[in-house]
Amino acid sequence: MKTRKGILLAGGSGSRLHPVTKIISKQILPLYDKPMIYYSLSVLMMAGIRDIMIISTPRDIKFFENLFGKGKDLGISISYAIQKRPKGIAQALIIADDFIGKSQIALMLGDNFFYGNNLEQILISTSKKNISTIFAYEVKDPTRYGIISCDKSGIPNKILEKPKKPKSNFAVTGLYFFENIAIKVAKSLAPSKRGELEITDVNKFFLKQKKLNVEYLSRGFAWLDTGTFESFFEASQLIKTIENRQGIKIGCLEEISLNKGWIKNSDLKSIIKSLGKSTYADYLKKINNKR
Ligand code: G1P
Repeated sequence: MKTRKGILLAGGSGSRLHPVTKIISKQILPLYDKPMIYYSLSVLMMAGIRDIMIISTPRDIKFFENLFGKGKDLGISISYAIQKRPKGIAQALIIADDFIGKSQIALMLGDNFFYGNNLEQILISTSKKNISTIFAYEVKDPTRYGIISCDKSGIPNKILEKPKKPKSNFAVTGLYFFENIAIKVAKSLAPSKRGELEITDVNKFFLKQKKLNVEYLSRGFAWLDTGTFESFFEASQLIKTIENRQGIKIGCLEEISLNKGWIKNSDLKSIIKSLGKSTYADYLKKINNKR
């Protein structure tokens, strides 16, 4: 099996969250009890990906470097790159070209939140496939997203970016498992009307070649993109409800790493110390004692 490397795009101007994001990246802001980026990083880690590049703005990259360093505490390797201007999601593939090398790719948007039964297994099995895969999720407001629709026999045949008259309610979510050729495809793209290299155009390439697998996330899943205060609040509430009811944490990176055998219980001790009196530290203590 070919290796798969992860790209986490945590850029953008976040203008819908001004004035807050005038001074700080939205992916650093808390979704309930952790920085937003924890949740997207957790998705890549759950998929079994240990070599990850975080891409952000010249202003914000230092926050992520301070937060995760080289990823050693999490048993993974994190490198960093800058996207000078927000020129589209597909540009991340070009920026990460050298880092990806000949590997397969998982591209994850730093403002997407996934939660649901069996998510880890779905991610692991999808990551092992030798075909590009996107994840679709039914939404009420399809004009806001990339939308995938099917022909009469149910075979996906069209993807449109923010269609005015959507042919379906299935949004293309912000997690993409691509074959390596996606980098070449991204390099060949022309900017769209909004001046961006559209990830939808990369998806269209694979769809046209009949080399695009679509995984539909069922109704038991939660997929939220946290680009507005409204969706921020909704995601925080969902996380709070589940965490408080079950006593588990969503997006606890050290827990994922421990379960995967990437770090040991003894490694956790110093991490707990560094986290002071937080509830996050209490949770890590709890999972450490259980083992
Ligand atoms: C981007 C993609 C869109 C996708 C969405 C998921 O939208 O262009 O296809 O459905 O992410 O979050 P944007 O955030 O650029 O509006």
